[in-house]
Amino acid sequence: MVLINSETHQAMVTRQRIKTNAKRGGLLAGIGGLIVIGFPMLVSTGMNSPVGFQIKEGNVITSAWLDVPLPIYNAIYVWNIENPAEFRRGAKAKLREMGPYVYKQHRWKEVISWGRNQESVKFWALSSWEFNEERTVGTQKDKITMINLPVYAMAAVVRGLVEKLPLSFAIAPVAFGAVNVLFMTHGEGLLKEMTVADLVEGYPFRILDTIDVLTKPLTWFGIKLPDTGMPQNKFGLLHVKNFTKGGPYEVYTGQQGTKFLKFISYQDK
Ligand SMILES: *[C@@H]1O[C@H](CO)[C@@H](O)[C@H](O)[C@H]1NC(C)=O
Repeated sequence: MVLINSETHQAMVTRQRIKTNAKRGGLLAGIGGLIVIGFPMLVSTGMNSPVGFQIKEGNVITSAWLDVPLPIYNAIYVWNIENPAEFRRGAKAKLREMGPYVYKQHRWKEVISWGRNQESVKFWALSSWEFNEERTVGTQKDKITMINLPVYAMAAVVRGLVEKLPLSFAIAPVAFGAVNVLFMTHGEGLLKEMTVADLVEGYPFRILDTIDVLTKPLTWFGIKLPDTGMPQNKFGLLHVKNFTKGGPYEVYTGQQGTKFLKFISYQDK
């Protein structure tokens, strides 16, 4: 349904695979596999670095490392469901590819602290995205009919949690019943009509405003939903990462004979 990638070649390969899957009618079965988000690696894993490269306050490499000067373009392809009414009644989805909708990514870092003798540095990695009209085919106002991704995600999370419980066969109907009622009362269905801007920059997932109602019956069974990671209770492919801090990461600086950018820890692990 949706594909984000910064490398065109890789995007082509995956698009082909998605098209093949879609043609086989495996749309629902393959939901998990239909979303590919190809963010480039944020941390080097200690390749043989050029001698003398160091992360050190004030040098040129460090400025480029802190605020990545290369423009990175994320291309998003959307597969519009052309026959929503029939699809709801069980027919195969007719899909039309739209896009790419291109967003320019800006990446930067915020230093949290330096290790002893500046041998290491700990930092947050951040990204933001701006729509890029020139490289886009279509507009942000294009109307699309899509699988309602947060509903699927939530249903999948609840299913995963329920399956881990003892007596899950008895609990499942109750838990899924509660979730279904929630979706219905909030007018959330399997499909959703929206604009491309909604999909990428976020649309409100109102269930989260009343998440306590959902979690209450689930807590009776010891189910605790993980943090959804949806700022302002909005779901959007890039919205969820726009200006959010990733990490903390910790790497060696190359000072004191350490290896330049060699990975030490992620989220303090
Ligand atoms: C990210 O946030 C900026 C500033 O609020 C906004 O202009 C931009 O449209 C946002 N991008 C996305 C993809 O949500």
